[in-house]
Amino acid sequence: MITTKHAGANYPSLMDRAVLVTGGGSGIGASIVARLSACGAKVGFVDIDENAGCGLVKALSQQGVRHTPVFGRCDITDIDAFKSAIADIVDETGPFTGLVNNAANDTRHEISEVTPESWRKALSVNLDHQFFAAQAVAQGMKTAGGGSIVNMGSMSWRVGIDRLSAYVSAKSAIEGLTNGLARELGPSRIRVNCITPGFVKTERQVQLWLTPELEAQVFESQCLPDFIEAEDVANLAAFLLADDSRMCTSGVFPVNGGWI
Ligand SMILES: NC(=O)c1ccc[n+]([C@@H]2O[C@H](COP(=O)([O-])OP(=O)(O)OC[C@H]3O[C@@H](n4cnc5c(N)ncnc54)[C@H](O)[C@@H]3O)[C@@H](O)[C@H]2O)c1
Repeated sequence: MITTKHAGANYPSLMDRAVLVTGGGSGIGASIVARLSACGAKVGFVDIDENAGCGLVKALSQQGVRHTPVFGRCDITDIDAFKSAIADIVDETGPFTGLVNNAANDTRHEISEVTPESWRKALSVNLDHQFFAAQAVAQGMKTAGGGSIVNMGSMSWRVGIDRLSAYVSAKSAIEGLTNGLARELGPSRIRVNCITPGFVKTERQVQLWLTPELEAQVFESQCLPDFIEAEDVANLAAFLLADDSRMCTSGVFPVNGGWI
């Protein structure tokens, strides 16, 4: 269920700001859409899951947010379709000065099963779109005098999660991408940061991957004795999008409960 239960700080600079969130239909992305909407932002989001996207729009509209989010169904691995969905949303929200590159797919695979096609597909859903979304919004941000891009990484590649070699390759590359974009876009006051979540208790994680063994590993590894919720990640994303973080760029910010 989507709530803004952890919504604490309100960021006045987010009021009426147009922000694009990819994979915003469920999980962490949906919490980010809800959190930004609660701050009065004009949120546009894309997702491949039409039901989830429409359901979120309905729920937030019923909550009476200042701007009902604009949803576009698209597959972000089809870059032309993705760019066209972004352009359609911009017609309604105005140019984006915030972007959250959140969509991903953490489907497990054995090394022996990977083919050149499945490898490319995994990088396509976990990496490529982050670059092309930044490319698509950069000019609008430059014209507006600046912007903030948040790339969703993961701690998974640092701690060694099995059966995820393509996903973790993409997630480590996202930290490099963050630095590359931050360097090139910085002179235009476009900031680029990366959030690296630990194990976040989203619906998909609970349904597919959360076993008693994994739960035990989480609490042995984390300093803090609570599960990370999607809202905890959304709170950091809101801060990084707001002007409160105006001198933060090329940063990697963990939300992992102190996984050591
Ligand atoms: N949940 C965690 O424990 C965790 C940990 C570390 C990093 N992350 C990162 O956080 C981000 C969000 O993760 P999540 O757990 O909320 O994931 P999720 O799978 O719950 O949600 C991902 C969303 O992206 C959408 N999506 C997937 N493929 C798409 C495509 N081809 N086109 C358009 N939309 C597509 C899905 O429909 C879904 O709504 C991801 O970048 C993930 O790698 C999550």
